Amino acid sequence: MKTIGKIYISKILATKLGLPEKPVITIRAGHIILNTELIIKNNDRSTYMLSPTLAGALYIKKRKKMQLRYDAHAEMLHLGPTIGILSTFLPNKGEFDPTSVQAELIFLSNVGKILPGQVYIFTPNSINWTNKTTRGYVYRQVSPERGVWVSAIYPLPDVVYDRIASRKGEARQLIKETKKKLMELPYLKYFNPFFLNKWQVHQMLENNFRLKPHLPETKPLTTENLEEMLSKYKTLYLKPSNGSLGLGIIKVTRDERGVLRYVVHRRKRMRSQADSATQLMKKTRSFRSGKPYIVQQGIPLATYRGSPFDLRIIYQKNRHGQWQIGKKFVRVAARGSVVSNLSSGGRAVSSKKVMRYLFRKPNIIDQKNREIKEICQTIAETVEIVTRRTFGELGLDIGIDNDGHPWLIEVNSKPRKTTETEMSRVIMRNAFKRPLEYSIYLAGF
Ligand SMILES: Nc1ncnc2c1ncn2[C@@H]1O[C@H](COP(=O)(O)OP(=O)(O)O)[C@@H](O)[C@H]1O
Ligand SMILES: [Mg+2]
Repeated sequence: MKTIGKIYISKILATKLGLPEKPVITIRAGHIILNTELIIKNNDRSTYMLSPTLAGALYIKKRKKMQLRYDAHAEMLHLGPTIGILSTFLPNKGEFDPTSVQAELIFLSNVGKILPGQVYIFTPNSINWTNKTTRGYVYRQVSPERGVWVSAIYPLPDVVYDRIASRKGEARQLIKETKKKLMELPYLKYFNPFFLNKWQVHQMLENNFRLKPHLPETKPLTTENLEEMLSKYKTLYLKPSNGSLGLGIIKVTRDERGVLRYVVHRRKRMRSQADSATQLMKKTRSFRSGKPYIVQQGIPLATYRGSPFDLRIIYQKNRHGQWQIGKKFVRVAARGSVVSNLSSGGRAVSSKKVMRYLFRKPNIIDQKNREIKEICQTIAETVEIVTRRTFGELGLDIGIDNDGHPWLIEVNSKPRKTTETEMSRVIMRNAFKRPLEYSIYLAGF
């Protein structure tokens, strides 16, 4: 049997790992697997060391601390974790804003440095399928103003955290093929695999009886469905199924005389009116530009100091693979705006403040928070069951109506997280760190 290099393991560590004493052992780092000479040393510490040849063959960077586990079933040592953050490209502008993909990737890369294992950013173009390796990128600050992406070769990872940041990117053939091939790799776990669409999400969740009371009635937008919904509700939201940032949303309000007043939310707001569902469909056709839309019951959102608000919850899996609230804040719509997205002038306020303002009594606030947490949990579990995919984080928009009843406005599978702190730097930092900690868990460590 051909072996490459040596691994020295102390007796104490070998016992801890449950390692059999044999001269040759199989070792894996990410997707590189090889046989190496095993040397068990008698010393009084729990340590291991790789010979330079072995470290080189496994693409282990010298300074990085890695963990070791023994998979008795596969009879294989596993050195890791190796975590790959998949991105469409490596944005590298001299100046960038804190809500950009670049800011997010740099932040993730820096957080990755303090975790055990190797964390890198990679792109579909950087993979070498033959060798099961990839070029991976880590951010290095070279001066207070400037940093660079430093690249090196790494094994294809144990875990992929998908940060493909746009639906357009996701639809590209190269990305689709890369994702498929990665998911087929034998030791690879992949999470947050795709964007969700508003109509699919509704269909996924509506069969759950615990969620039903919290879902606004929703249908695909057609003239007939619009007519039917208008007969039931005074206010409706028409939303692009694949939209985001509040763009393309049309809020329709039926007045006492049956006139349909509507506001189209784009970069600029536009107000107009129509006499019937048919006319409304006709007048808004050009804005909708052939994109699939949903029509949704409007929720009379509670207001904070005169403006409607909703809760944005970043729901994440942690170090133990369990869901928890990673970050929670309230987005208050800009004056006169029909959406509360921060990108559209909405403002972030602490949820504690708003919950106190709304419910006053501590016991009622606790009870509401528990109710909301349970809704998030059920949504996350249902999404994973129905899609049969793994998610590590979700962005949930929850509206609260005038009676204090929570409603689900939307589920986002690729929530953008700003590196600017809305509330607390610690919470912001942890929200970036958690998916990486979840990756360590997924890798088996
Ligand atoms: N059914 C609704 N009732 C009341 N307000 C809504 C409704 N749907 C959306 N909104 C408002 O519009 C915002 C954007 O809607 P959302 O469904 O989250 O779309 P996007 O993907 O563009 O963020 C919400 O945060 C909320 O303020
Ligand atoms: Mg939203």
